[in-house]
Amino acid sequence: MNFKKIHNTFWEQGYVIFEKFFDDALMDNYNDKILQHYGVNPDWEHTDEFISKSAVEVIPWFPYRDGQGGFDGIDKDKIFNRITDALLKDGWNNLYCMMMFSKAGSKGQAWHQDCPPDNPLKYNLNRLVYTHDITDETGGDIVIMPKAHKAGILPVGKPHEDIDGQLVFQPKKGTVVFLHGHCFHRVMPVKKDRISTNFRAVPLGTPEDITDVCVYRNMKYRFSTSEVIEERS
Ligand SMILES: [Fe+2]
Repeated sequence: MNFKKIHNTFWEQGYVIFEKFFDDALMDNYNDKILQHYGVNPDWEHTDEFISKSAVEVIPWFPYRDGQGGFDGIDKDKIFNRITDALLKDGWNNLYCMMMFSKAGSKGQAWHQDCPPDNPLKYNLNRLVYTHDITDETGGDIVIMPKAHKAGILPVGKPHEDIDGQLVFQPKKGTVVFLHGHCFHRVMPVKKDRISTNFRAVPLGTPEDITDVCVYRNMKYRFSTSEVIEERS
């Protein structure tokens, strides 16, 4: 692996993608484990009313906070973490491991930055790992605006509207996407139940609540208090 090239690509584009990074057996195992947590059996059938009745678009789960862990095959993977070393050269910490479940028919995610870009040196690094294929049938494509990690704040506008220059990706099982938290991104509407996983990291010295305030095109939102802290227009 050419870590210098990976570093340069990431810092030029705001993201870097590796296909077939993790093998199918590990991904199938983790996908089943995540489905079981959400009360869905491995054939993707709901066995728990919670999911079917939930009005929430994306349901997060933090397995390491529960003390359950169980995803060390990704979290402690040597190459995965060596790439992280190459991207965050002055050191980094795990922020958290977050699983996300989106129901069929949910809206996906509007354009956002994971944290305000006021200070270019304060950011999070998304390390997205896909445990199943994203296809035309599943929906939930990830859309990235290349180089936007250097573009300042996400422009005001319609939350889900296309932006000139955006790139649309359908990651397959085992794909890893390293994505800068200031780089504009969104998730297309979800047609079939969808899982994605994020092994979030931060440069050393980054506050733990770095991702508490998220920037959308129409507002800034604070998760810890569930409130809109700024309308944008
Ligand atoms: Fe995000």
